[in-house]
Amino acid sequence: MRVLSGIKPTGKLTLGNYIGALKNFSQYQSDHDVFIFIADLHALTLPIDPEELRMNTRLLTAFYLAAGLDPNRVTIFKQSDVSAHAELNAILQNYLYMGELSRMTQFKEKSQNMDGNAIGLGLFTYPVLMASDILLYEANIVPVGEDQIQHIEITRDLVVRFNNRYGKILVMPEPIVSTVGKRIMSLSDPSIKMSKSESGKGDIYLTDDLTVIRKKIMSAVTDSGSEIYVDEEKKPGITNLLTIYAALTDKSLDDCVKKFKDYRYGDFKKEVANVVINTLGPFQEKAYEFLKSGEVDRVLRDGAQKATIIANQTLKKVKEAVGLL
Ligand code: AMP
Ligand code: TRP
Repeated sequence: MRVLSGIKPTGKLTLGNYIGALKNFSQYQSDHDVFIFIADLHALTLPIDPEELRMNTRLLTAFYLAAGLDPNRVTIFKQSDVSAHAELNAILQNYLYMGELSRMTQFKEKSQNMDGNAIGLGLFTYPVLMASDILLYEANIVPVGEDQIQHIEITRDLVVRFNNRYGKILVMPEPIVSTVGKRIMSLSDPSIKMSKSESGKGDIYLTDDLTVIRKKIMSAVTDSGSEIYVDEEKKPGITNLLTIYAALTDKSLDDCVKKFKDYRYGDFKKEVANVVINTLGPFQEKAYEFLKSGEVDRVLRDGAQKATIIANQTLKKVKEAVGLL
């Protein structure tokens, strides 16, 4: 079984990215063929400074390694290093329709405050490139956070459409979303997602100093009342903190609720802060070490070679199917 996923090297990665995506990737490496990449072409869909893109790309690679991905077992690569992504994108764009693309939630959200005349085409066709990423590696499983499911659904529609026309060429992917932590919310406003692009005080960045992280968690908004239980409507703040705790300790939400039943909010937050810091402290140390040692650059070089071989095989099949070869 093949597993594939990627993250865009934009903005500052958050604890949401860690819990919803990063942390889950390494669990597949012992018994699956895993491809994890840096979606740097996708990073260009919104304005980004070139130096920032370069730095983020290396940092994200270091985060992959620090999250436990073993480059001897997993192919870690940069999307733009494998030209088959752009080539398959050019072919597949003819099999997805403008109507479908304009219904994508991510497109609607990201473009809503933009001048309609200046929305880049890449933002609109984002799902075509994402489908190309997935289909090139014939991925069976795609672990992502909840917000990416719609993009995988459209990839699945594309597979049906393409295969109906040309025969069984493309492999059907399946999204996998972790049960706990598929959507980590902002600590200052638990009605919105913790995200790279928010103001910062409610978002824990993976590069934050540990003292800053503790402060952010201790000042997280809590809900009225004093009890600790799961209720997304009445207790969104507490539920979010419980989710973070459960995800990082690999416990069920129920077990966490039992553990904290008699805790006061302040003491509960202290425990949550400890777990986050005990996770991110060693994680940051490892990541910075990988950056310094040059391991990041070696990994990306090797990864590009390995990924290119597999990607070109699929590209050839598709080119033959549609009549380009
Ligand atoms: P992005 O930040 O959009 O590049 O997302 C990279 C990955 O992290 C995707 O699989 C997202 O679904 C996941 N992700 C992003 N934000 C969150 C969040 N707040 N909670 C859970 N998963 C998230
Ligand atoms: N769109 C994903 C995100 O927002 C990144 C991504 C690009 C991706 N291509 C992918 C994820 C293919 C899974 C599979 O972060």
